[in-house]
Amino acid sequence: PAKQRLLVVANRLPPCNSFEGVKEFDARWIGWAGVNVPDDVGQRALTKALAEKRCIPVFLDEEIVHQYYNGYCNNILWPLFHYLSLPQEDRLATTRSFQSQFDAYKKANQMFAAVVNQHYEEGDVVWCHDYHLMFLPKCLKEYNSEMKVGWFLHTPFPSSEIHRTLPSRSELLRSVIAADLVGFHTYDYARHFVSACTRILGLEGTPEGVEDQGKLTRVAAFPIGIDSERFVRAIDLPPVQEHMKELKQRFAGRKVMLGVDRLDMIKGIPQKILAFEKFLEENPQWRDKVVLLQIAVPTRTDVPEYQKLTSQVHEIVGRINGRFGTLTAVPIHHLDRSLDFHALCALYAVTDVALVTSLRDGMNLVSYEFVACQASKKDVALVTSLRDGMNLVSYEFVACQASKKGVLILSEFAGAAQSLGAGAILVNPWNITDVAASIKYALDMPADEREKRHQHNFKHVTTHTSQEWAATFVSELNDTIVEAQLRT
Ligand code: UDP
Ligand code: G6P
Repeated sequence: PAKQRLLVVANRLPPCNSFEGVKEFDARWIGWAGVNVPDDVGQRALTKALAEKRCIPVFLDEEIVHQYYNGYCNNILWPLFHYLSLPQEDRLATTRSFQSQFDAYKKANQMFAAVVNQHYEEGDVVWCHDYHLMFLPKCLKEYNSEMKVGWFLHTPFPSSEIHRTLPSRSELLRSVIAADLVGFHTYDYARHFVSACTRILGLEGTPEGVEDQGKLTRVAAFPIGIDSERFVRAIDLPPVQEHMKELKQRFAGRKVMLGVDRLDMIKGIPQKILAFEKFLEENPQWRDKVVLLQIAVPTRTDVPEYQKLTSQVHEIVGRINGRFGTLTAVPIHHLDRSLDFHALCALYAVTDVALVTSLRDGMNLVSYEFVACQASKKDVALVTSLRDGMNLVSYEFVACQASKKGVLILSEFAGAAQSLGAGAILVNPWNITDVAASIKYALDMPADEREKRHQHNFKHVTTHTSQEWAATFVSELNDTIVEAQLRT
């Protein structure tokens, strides 16, 4: 049979090589290309170039980007959904600009809807993504009430007590529930959404979702995953092995701790670094035996809060390196940049302890990627051969490999804590005493415990993949629509 046609709509188009997750669909991506292209000629050229990658651009001008993306999305919705409040001095300014930013948000969503509508063919599944596009399901249903529309949120959905403070609280909820299926990473987020609909809109919440005058919007949890094979395979590639060799030489004699985050308030980077400082303070014997590599990918740099965070982090890192550095080594290597895929995999692979200290995080895929990269291809072959029966060679191999497995320290406020909780050391990132103690525990952990914890996580990461996530969501959306038709 022909593959199901799928229109994936997200604020940002995916980077050209990350089409994982939807291979079994005839998929097209619709989104903002992240650049301002004011003239027609440029727009046509970009549209043509992107078409080869099955991407369709939505063009947003600078003013819209400023009000919709920097303003409403990243200065209002993003902090609110992550339970972060604005600093006192920004609060009133944000309150004043709220209405014009919300208007721009709706306008931007209508622009996305128009592009979707242009490319829509009967029977298509339209899958809308994230907090940027909460207004989209309603716009799409207004074009065509027969459209199959799903919406998935990649961030947490906060308690209804938080959502309730948003001036546009009802309008946003109403437009989201115009979708046929609404998905979240965890049951908690789904439950928060349903209570927001019952308490704020006065609708009825059922185990299935939200009901409005007999019309059901299905609400469920679909925890995302990664294309784990892509990471497992990468470790054996020559360029990755080369990077690993260099890193091992560079940090010989020291344990490597790693943080990989966008430089975002939600990631708890200052908290992580302060916890590391506390660990060094309390454990002088470790000072020249451990290094923290923090990759901090610049993000949303036009939003003032992000600019402030950058200087705050630089100041803390500088202070700690001044305090504990020697003439030849510093305890923290902080990089304001992104890494290419091979360098990132190599870093994950050589890491002894990964530190994820998000204050809130929808899921956190870095923790999954770290786990995937801790297993070489040989380990995977090993699992298969163990299933075949006794094999002494493989047992010996387990013993040799065991010492290699790194430890994941993971914030209990990341969605991933619900799936990797058994294998990771869970921490409250606000409690730096707790995090410092966990760092020590992780560094001292015996090989067999590291191996056991890794196996827990690895099993989850390789069985709950992005491919499975997408397939489950789309199949649930199709089922939901069939059931709705049966009811009428
Ligand atoms: N990442 C990247 N380049 C880098 C560092 C990270 O592309 O230099 C990727 C990383 O592989 C992961 C994503 O950024 O897939 C971060 O996803 P996560 O869910 O951890 O957090 P988010 O940034 O979405 O909040
Ligand atoms: C989070 C959001 C995504 C977003 C990404 C990068 O993962 O859930 O929707 O694309 O951050 O942020 P940016 O603002 O650069 O797109």
